[in-house]
Amino acid sequence: MKGRLRLGVNIDHVATIRNARGGPHPDPLRAAAVAQAAGADGITAHLREDRRHMTDGDIERLVAEIALPLNLEMAATDEMLAIAVKHRPHAACIVPERREEVTTEGGLDAAGGRQGLEPVVGRLTEAGVRVSLFVDPDPAQLDAAAALGVPVIELHTGAYCEAFYEAGATAPATLGELDRLVRGAAHAEALGLECHAGHGLTFDNVTPVAAIPTVMELNIGHFLIGEAIFGGLDSSIKRMRAIRDKARADSLGSRTA
Ligand code: PXP
Repeated sequence: MKGRLRLGVNIDHVATIRNARGGPHPDPLRAAAVAQAAGADGITAHLREDRRHMTDGDIERLVAEIALPLNLEMAATDEMLAIAVKHRPHAACIVPERREEVTTEGGLDAAGGRQGLEPVVGRLTEAGVRVSLFVDPDPAQLDAAAALGVPVIELHTGAYCEAFYEAGATAPATLGELDRLVRGAAHAEALGLECHAGHGLTFDNVTPVAAIPTVMELNIGHFLIGEAIFGGLDSSIKRMRAIRDKARADSLGSRTA
């Protein structure tokens, strides 16, 4: 599975800023429209149990008003399942969720949580929603995802991104985490799983991830929304697209040279 690398723009943190004041501004729907005009391939939004950023109304409006495919990030709970089945987004990415965490801290335990995940995956699939599991690049988790019958996994790039900023781009810890992602993507391909990646990606650290030829989609949010403060959302998305395209072109070129 090789080909064009899609960019999903996660707009959660537009809602975070809106919610800081409780009014309607800035509107995540407007961000989705700007992302579409800037060449994003999809919109990603996480409806959390505590509604700290996106709200039920946001999801309803995204499904009704935005032409781009919506990737709904959700915990495997009855409440979220009912919402996903009602709105039938293009895709749902099942993530672990803990109320006290600042952001999604680790991958889903697909291996240990199989019993609870099976009915959720089944119900979403029946509803025509493309299901992915957000997992660490751990072979046991990828095997468990394949056993659950999902078509897609998203590799958690958080550990790589953290090492990148804490230890440096070429530090052994960073290269080790990158290697885990490369091997995870290869393992996913061997299992017939489409591979996505995301969490913590920035202009500086995205290139080696975008260069993995079997990664088909990147989901990026916090950094793009933060950059939008300085240069606008349109500009931050277009720059990320350009870095992505160069990384992918260089990696495919170096493989055929
Ligand atoms: N992918 C998944 C599954 C996520 O949970 C998140 C964060 O909501 C992202 C990608 C985007 O991460 P970031 O906001 O750090 O770019």
